[in-house]
Amino acid sequence: MRKPQTNADLILLSRLQAHDESALDELISAYSSKVFQLAFRYLHNKEDAEEVTQDVLYKVYRKVGSFRGDAALSSWIYRITFNTAMSRLRTAKYQRTQAEEPQMVSSDGEQLTPNARRDVAEGMRIYRQKGDCQACHGWAADGRKMDTQMPDGANLRTTRLGRAGIIAAIKCGRPGRSMPAFDKLAYSDGRCSDLKLGDLQRQGLELPDPAATLQPREIEMVADFLFEKVIGKGPMDRAKCIEFWGADVETCSEFPK
Ligand code: HEC
Repeated sequence: MRKPQTNADLILLSRLQAHDESALDELISAYSSKVFQLAFRYLHNKEDAEEVTQDVLYKVYRKVGSFRGDAALSSWIYRITFNTAMSRLRTAKYQRTQAEEPQMVSSDGEQLTPNARRDVAEGMRIYRQKGDCQACHGWAADGRKMDTQMPDGANLRTTRLGRAGIIAAIKCGRPGRSMPAFDKLAYSDGRCSDLKLGDLQRQGLELPDPAATLQPREIEMVADFLFEKVIGKGPMDRAKCIEFWGADVETCSEFPK
């Protein structure tokens, strides 16, 4: 997942890295409201989100020297936000409910977070946002519909597929069965059962467009997420719900404590 740096970010970055004093103000004006919104989404609490925002911006300012520029500045900042918000959630009140499952991110994460943990978190984001898998498979990946317009997706929690099968299903979709193909080249060079778009049309197999096509690396990360958090993990329950959303959101109240 590489987003190019925007010009504004490049300028901000070079000023931050040059320890230009006014750069901190600029960082705050460019990012504080986005960081706050994001933190609020994870924490559902204004005071916590405000504190996390300050924390994040200060961390960014302090650690920008170690930022290697291998991701967009914004992505790096959002990842720090995620990690900081998650470690806040783990303190005090959420600790008990979250203790059962392995932690998704290490406590002060950022670049030090083990790659595998980061991939799972990124895979979850792709599941929820970029790939919009939840539109059909439900946020809990158990196939409960969220939107009556969408066909029911399979219950992924109980799938019998192994890793290769999961990856093939995501890449190639299921023509004629409402599962989009997320590999951009799925039906152009024969990589999916040697079929091309023309073959699908001739056989009358419809294939919905995906929300976005995914790079092989992104598909691997979604698979990592599914195996780590979804497949074979039993039905969704309160604790898993809180972990998934990062807070005890309203949706989780449907599960008994
Ligand atoms: C437009 C709706 C839709 C979207 C979006 C969608 N799926 Fe599906 N998916 C389905 C349907 C429907 C099936 C069942 C197809 C069938 O009957 O074989 C399915 C099947 C699957 C399967 C195979 C499960 C099995 O046990 O056979 C996997 C894995 C899967 N989807 C993963 C994903 C992932 C990951 C994403 C996001 C990157 C995604 N899907 C997005 C509708 C969707």
